[in-house]
Amino acid sequence: MIVLVLGGNSEIGIAAAEQFALNEKAEIILASRNVQNAKERAREIVEKYGVVARAIAFDALAYESHQKFYDQLTSRPDVVIQAFGVLENQKECQEDFKKAKSVLEGNLMGAVSILEIVAADFEQIGKGTIIGLSSVAGERGRKSSYIYAASKAGLTVYLDGLRHRLHPTGVHVITVLPGFVPTKMVAGRTSKFGVTPLPVAGRDIYNAWKKGKYKIFTGRKMRWVMAFIRNIPESLMLKMRNL
Ligand SMILES: NC(=O)c1ccc[n+]([C@@H]2O[C@H](COP(=O)([O-])OP(=O)(O)OC[C@H]3O[C@@H](n4cnc5c(N)ncnc54)[C@H](OP(=O)(O)O)[C@@H]3O)[C@@H](O)[C@H]2O)c1
Repeated sequence: MIVLVLGGNSEIGIAAAEQFALNEKAEIILASRNVQNAKERAREIVEKYGVVARAIAFDALAYESHQKFYDQLTSRPDVVIQAFGVLENQKECQEDFKKAKSVLEGNLMGAVSILEIVAADFEQIGKGTIIGLSSVAGERGRKSSYIYAASKAGLTVYLDGLRHRLHPTGVHVITVLPGFVPTKMVAGRTSKFGVTPLPVAGRDIYNAWKKGKYKIFTGRKMRWVMAFIRNIPESLMLKMRNL
């Protein structure tokens, strides 16, 4: 089995890949714009799990390079984990459209560009799994994070539609909605809704693949927290200034 991680320096992506290395003895390909760092992470995976692991160059925003990137893979992956993502300060995004654009592009446009290429290939052979890392943030817009949330809401709906399209062909699409997982992306931030440890997030993603799930939250509590937040009446939501 071959697992390709797009955004190969993602800590959640690597935690999930490690579960495939541990349980399936999968070969791991870390596709990253920072190949040097990804090479180091691949070397750690080789040492820890005794599997083949390597790093290759990939930039989610270099749309015109995506077809060539995928065609040049020496073997076709069985599982593709779309793990890259961009989080910026909400207030700075409000004041600087360039920042807002980088969030929208890094979370949504890049995913659409590369995953359409993967989808077309998997559809042709009638197998494969695409795992997209979206976010609970996309479940409801809040003043503290609505630009990032909008990009993730777009990604979640995109993955819903991709799954609907590919389901009859035998290709599986899994949407992952992580809550707060302590990685470099959220360094210096805190969560009001609890923390999912990184190894738990990795295991949840692997188990979702193993059990053929369609959409999962990472961590046990998040499903219920988000059901509550989604159902807060708008009139009440507008009064909750700290959410
Ligand atoms: N951690 C959380 O609490 C949390 C919660 C909800 C959702 N998520 C989502 O989960 C995913 C993984 O996040 P994480 O927590 O593992 O954070 P992370 O360790 O910071 O990983 C994100 C990775 O995305 C990569 N990336 C960004 N732009 C890229 C581009 N143009 N091309 C290639 N790679 C690019 C970054 O690469 P570089 O290393 O080169 O910068 C970084 O390694 C993200 O989509 C994130 O939005 C995370």
